[in-house]
Amino acid sequence: MAGIYIHIPFCKTKCHYCDFYKSTDFSGKIDFLSALKKEIDQRKNELKGHKIETIYLGGGTPSVLKASELKKIIEHLKAQFDVSTDAETTLEANPDDLTYDFLLELRKTGFNRISIGIQSFLNDDLKRMNRRHHSSDAIGSITLAKTAGFDNISIDLIYGLPNQTIEAWQKNLQQAIELNVQHISAYHLTYHRGTVFYNYLQTGKIKEIPDERSLEQFKILKELLEKDGFEHYEISNFAKMGLYSRHNKSYWQRKSYLGLGPSAHSFDQKKRRWNVSNVNEYLKAIDKGKKYWEEEFLLEQDQYNDYIITTLRTMWGISLNYLQDNFHNKYVNHFEREVQPFVKSGHIQFKNENYTLITEGLFISDKIMENLLFVDDL
Ligand SMILES: C[S@@+](CC[C@H](N)C(=O)[O-])C[C@H]1O[C@@H](n2cnc3c(N)ncnc32)[C@H](O)[C@@H]1O
Ligand code: SF4
Repeated sequence: MAGIYIHIPFCKTKCHYCDFYKSTDFSGKIDFLSALKKEIDQRKNELKGHKIETIYLGGGTPSVLKASELKKIIEHLKAQFDVSTDAETTLEANPDDLTYDFLLELRKTGFNRISIGIQSFLNDDLKRMNRRHHSSDAIGSITLAKTAGFDNISIDLIYGLPNQTIEAWQKNLQQAIELNVQHISAYHLTYHRGTVFYNYLQTGKIKEIPDERSLEQFKILKELLEKDGFEHYEISNFAKMGLYSRHNKSYWQRKSYLGLGPSAHSFDQKKRRWNVSNVNEYLKAIDKGKKYWEEEFLLEQDQYNDYIITTLRTMWGISLNYLQDNFHNKYVNHFEREVQPFVKSGHIQFKNENYTLITEGLFISDKIMENLLFVDDL
């Protein structure tokens, strides 16, 4: 079993918080699509013997492509890989790109899951984040997706915004609940170097919200969504009826995946590879048959750290059996020594051979992670 991720590196405008690789210059779009086709051809044997269970088109903004362009990508993947007939096939979309006809075409092409970047249902928040859409587009896009036949809809929300009140966040969540989607990803705002928000923070134009309010927003998020029947299965992810993101779950389960397009990452247990984060360099290299990626072979220490990073924040947690079966005693001993204080303080629970974060532990997961990771003892 394996997954395929494709990075579509174009956005019509840039949001103030976002550091995903993207370009607002669409002049290279057609060349990008043919380079992508070549990359698919070049790498079709990397997942030989694997059934492809998930396909995820992310970005950037995949919904800026035409339905016919998206169809060609999916058809080409199906021609070159052994794609399961019920593969989870997700498109990341911005609300303002979603028309009824476009959504219908997506369904016909085989997309059975859509992840809509709502971010907020409040116009004030949307404006501050430099989003292109309005609250009415956000609501309208979800309704249209349902009408077009999508029954596995995910939405992205961001909280912890500067000045965001508890009431504003509650309002957002109530709106999300009313719309009755199957999956919600709610991310706490992160300030990334190079983004507009980061610069505003540095120059004092905005202020981070206090930690207590962040924690309160997180608790409200968990409480309201769980009350509505959502399962909190990863720090930022909530699903109804077991409709977890199969694609993301396979990252956490350390299954192989192939990442295609600029900045996309690939993984095969022993090696990580990442493509250049630059459309023009990507195009040139593919055209000239040159290398457009870097790679890193994972030592046992990296594999241990990777396992901790990818599993700690999920509800399945860290399996003691897995650690014992796969890693040298030195890593298992390190883990057991470092995890104990967090078990004692009630941030982590140990149940059925698994260590999982519990409420306040989820909120300080970065600090816990820092302790559990194995830092070189050279
Ligand atoms: C690849 S991005 C966006 C996909 C799509 N282009 C959109 O904007 O709707 C995936 C998600 O990451 C989240 N995200 C991006 N940057 C973030 C940040 N700095 N802090 C918190 N969440 C962020 C947003 O919720 C976003 O929808
Ligand atoms: S959040 Fe989405 S639309 Fe905004 S800049 Fe990032 S990738 Fe582009």
